[in-house]
Parts: sequence; C-alpha cells; structure tokens
Amino acid sequence: MLDPRDYYIDENITEALALHPSTFHNPEFLQKELDTIFSHSWLFVPQRAEKEMKKDPRPLAEVLQEAGSYFEFTLFDSEPLFLQIDTDGFAHCFPNCCPHDNFPLRTDKCGTSKFIKCKQHGRIFSCAGKFIAHPGFDASNGKQITKGAGSNLKELPLTRWGPFFFIALGEPFAKLQHMPTYPLSSIPDNRVPIGNEEEVVDGNWKQHVRNYLDYFHIAEIHAKSFAKVVDINSYRTECNPHSVLQWAYARNPAHGFDPHELPRRFQDPNHPEKRVYALWDFIPPNFASNRYPWGYSINVWMPIKNNPAQTRLYRYHYVTDAEKYKKKDEIWKDEDVNQEDIDAMREAWRGAKSRFASRGTFSPEKEQATHWFHHWVYEMMFEKY
Ligand code: FES
Ligand SMILES: [Fe+2]
Repeated sequence: MLDPRDYYIDENITEALALHPSTFHNPEFLQKELDTIFSHSWLFVPQRAEKEMKKDPRPLAEVLQEAGSYFEFTLFDSEPLFLQIDTDGFAHCFPNCCPHDNFPLRTDKCGTSKFIKCKQHGRIFSCAGKFIAHPGFDASNGKQITKGAGSNLKELPLTRWGPFFFIALGEPFAKLQHMPTYPLSSIPDNRVPIGNEEEVVDGNWKQHVRNYLDYFHIAEIHAKSFAKVVDINSYRTECNPHSVLQWAYARNPAHGFDPHELPRRFQDPNHPEKRVYALWDFIPPNFASNRYPWGYSINVWMPIKNNPAQTRLYRYHYVTDAEKYKKKDEIWKDEDVNQEDIDAMREAWRGAKSRFASRGTFSPEKEQATHWFHHWVYEMMFEKY
C-alpha cells in the first residue's frame, strides 16, 4: 500500500520536494498510475505504423471513413483496444476482448467487415457493439449471455481532434478540448514519416515528461544543438490549469515564425524584430504538441505495464511549410535534440536507481513547469482518484 504522505508535493514551489526517486522504478507506483492517472485521462491513439503506411499511405482518419472499418491498437504494451466505425458512420472504441472468453475480437491491424465476429467461438456483434447472436446460446439461456461483462461491448469515451483520436479507459478528468493552449485542429493531417516514429527508450515516462518541461537541461544537454539557436533568456513558461506552454525567441529572427502566424502577445513591443522559435504545448499526462515554423512535432511518452524502467516514445511530424521542413535538422535541430534527450534520460534513470538518490527541490524562478507536473501527478494519484 502506497502511503500518500511519502509522495506529497507541496503546491508552493518554495516548499515542495520533487517526487521520490522510487516513483521512477517502483512497479506498484506504476500500477497505481495506470489505475488513476491513465484511467481518467485522454489517451492518444498511436498512428498507424510505418510498415502499414507503406501498404496504404492514407491517414488513419481517412482509413476509418468507411462503414465497418476498424483499427486495432495496444496501450501500455498490454491494453488491447480497437476503433470501430458502425454502419451509420459513427466511431466507437471497444476493448479488444470478447465478453464470452476474452479472445481478441480484432486479430488484424485494420480492415472492414459488416459485423464484429469473434474468431474463437463465433459470437457476433454489430459494428456499434450490440450483441446479435452466439451459436449454442438461445433465448432460453440468454441469462448466460448477459452475465459477467453483459451482452453488448463496453463502449469507451472517444474523441477525434485534428488528425488524432484520443480515448479514455474511464471518465476523463477534463474535456480534451479545454486542455491545450492551442487547438489541435490547426494541425494538418499530412504526417510525414520519419525513421523512428515509435521506439522503446530507457527511463520512466515521468522522467521523460519532466525533461520535456525542464528549462535547465537546455544549456547542458542541448549545449551543442538547441542552446545555440534559441535565445535562452527569452524562455517563457506558462502553467495553465490543464496544460503547460513553453516558448522562446530564436537567436536568429530568420528562424522564427512570421509575426502574423501567431497572436500579438508573442511579440515583444520593445524588440519588434524578435521572432518566436517554437511553441511547446504539453497536455497531461503524456502528450506534447510542438509548433515550429515548419509544422508540428508530436511527442507521446507511453508507460509500459510492469516496466517502469522504460517508455514507449511516439514521434510524428505534420508539415505546414515543406521548404522549411527540409531544414528541420539544420535549423531546428530535430534529430539531435531528440537523441540527446533519449541519451540523457538513460543516464537520469541510472542516477535515480542509486540507493543515495533523494527527493530534489525546484528553482522557484526556473522550474515552475517541472513542479507543476510533479504536483499534478501527486494530485491525480492521491487526491483526485
Ligand atoms: S471468446 Fe469470443 S465467442 Fe468465445
Ligand atoms: Fe530536451
């Protein structure tokens, strides 16, 4: 049993201690995260893998336009689910697990069919998840059908926003549309494949999120890449109730956004020549939408059940300016920054395992975002759920 007093994060940054290092490697803590945070949050549905894109390059939302189409996916390397379009064109999300004997209802990645028919013993559901028939069960033993999980498939909350689908395993703590600083609908559905869109990386998912929100690591971990192109003194952090926005000006104004692309508040009235280099928008628990002059880079840090030491990292690119996108590595240092973060978290994980590892503190001036995240984790796990 985890005692909340051992994990308390003070709301006041000057009083707060960071999460205990054991929270990065304790499997019991991870399980409680899955049962609280990840059972009450909007969860990103991973896009189709590159090898499927080679067979059919259409975006997921387009593949799922046809009545009866479906897409199977797994969260936390352990939670099988599928998206299903019914005959009226409405989208549903169901557990990929038959109520009769738990066989997966969808055994291939995607496809189209008139019904959902279980391949183990033949139970049939409509594409909206309604029980239709099962050989061997008739009206006289209907009670046997409705026992347990019930006769119909369990429908999970599902929302589509921009090019993405998000699902929830239980009632989400907030409306997704109220969470980010920028609406995801401004992201074009034109994903450009990058070599490593999905990989298992070392380090706990919270370490990766903390690192994403971390001001201090820029000058050190990214000394040779990102720190050279961003005006670090202009770095801003805005903690909102359900998101954190970070942004900064470019060292070279030619590498920033045209002012008309962003709201006026991002202009510096005293230095009208300054241009925003990027906007980094984090939506808890594990989704980030990064807006660059070339387009959007999406990061998702997905925990892996029973494996607090590693994280499944998803990365996708959506392009708004093809010419600038060609310079994503030269000017915006995309590949270098990603690799530097992955390498740094492998080291952070090593340090956190030390028997001498202790709870850290936060700089009241520079670490509002990391404090915000640790406090959010504590609240979700021990006060809200
Ligand atoms: S497990 Fe699906 S019909 Fe038996
Ligand atoms: Fe970084």
